[in-house]
Amino acid sequence: MKVTKAVIPAAGLGTRVLPASKAVPKEMLNIVDKPAIQYLVEEAAAAGITDILIITNRNKHVIEDHFDYAFELEASLRGNPAKKDLYDAVRDVADKANIYFVRQKETKGLAHAVLKAEAFVGDEPFAILYGDDVIINDEKPAIGQLINAFEKYNKPVVGVNECSREDIKKYCSLDVTHIEGRIYDVHSIVEKPTDDEIMSLFAILGRNVLTPDIFDRIRATPPNAKSGEVYLTDTFSQMGIDNNLLCVDFEGKRYDMGDKFGIMEANVEVALNHPEIGDKFRNYLKDLAKNL
Ligand code: UTP
Repeated sequence: MKVTKAVIPAAGLGTRVLPASKAVPKEMLNIVDKPAIQYLVEEAAAAGITDILIITNRNKHVIEDHFDYAFELEASLRGNPAKKDLYDAVRDVADKANIYFVRQKETKGLAHAVLKAEAFVGDEPFAILYGDDVIINDEKPAIGQLINAFEKYNKPVVGVNECSREDIKKYCSLDVTHIEGRIYDVHSIVEKPTDDEIMSLFAILGRNVLTPDIFDRIRATPPNAKSGEVYLTDTFSQMGIDNNLLCVDFEGKRYDMGDKFGIMEANVEVALNHPEIGDKFRNYLKDLAKNL
């Protein structure tokens, strides 16, 4: 079955990037001239997604405004032939896909946020793009790489990349066997592994393609003993144990927009390749580096 729906959970508190995320959602933080979440919508649209549900909360209404028409602004740009490109860019944001919104009324974690997508998803497979994980690959959108694996093997898929031994302890570690190319079978997953628990350096990073049975699976997952929160990783681990989960080691550069260093990496690297400011920024950086 073709995957045409996607869900972007964007209702987190973003405490790691406070105070920037106090009034501006972290998903709206800038990478050069576009907010992070616009990169996600563009990635999904490029992979054939037509309908996107964004999960927000009461402090995130600017996300809705960003994907709406902006009449006053557009009228002013439209009247000026020199600003046609800007007009097109502003207008295009609202027309990338059909975008819907639902609120997660209490911030009870990612798994709880995903449950809010149940009515939107219905009985179709769907993609998830975590709202603060930007992955750039202009030729092969990361979520499209997962969708291809899903359509070939008809099993849910999580996106993974190899991390350093230090980093993997902050994420999770997957027990996998190779199938073909960049696709692996997942057997189980350990959240925040200790040194002894690391099974591979693959961690789940920001992209999944799932089937609607995920909602019952989340409801059946016991909450974490310490936090009382249900972890999506625990749901995925059970799917691995049930022989019902693949992973794709996606190609693309991932930036963690929920992290100060990730925001800086994204801005520097995207600026270096930017058609308008790339050359100027490269010269500026070279100059600056002489004194570092
Ligand atoms: P994070 O794990 O980064 O959580 O969420 P967070 O709460 O936003 O970040 P910190 O730790 O406080 O800095 C991963 C994705 O899931 C969404 C976030 O918006 C982010 O895009 N999320 C997280 C929700 O939609 N709801 C939640 O309750 C938690």
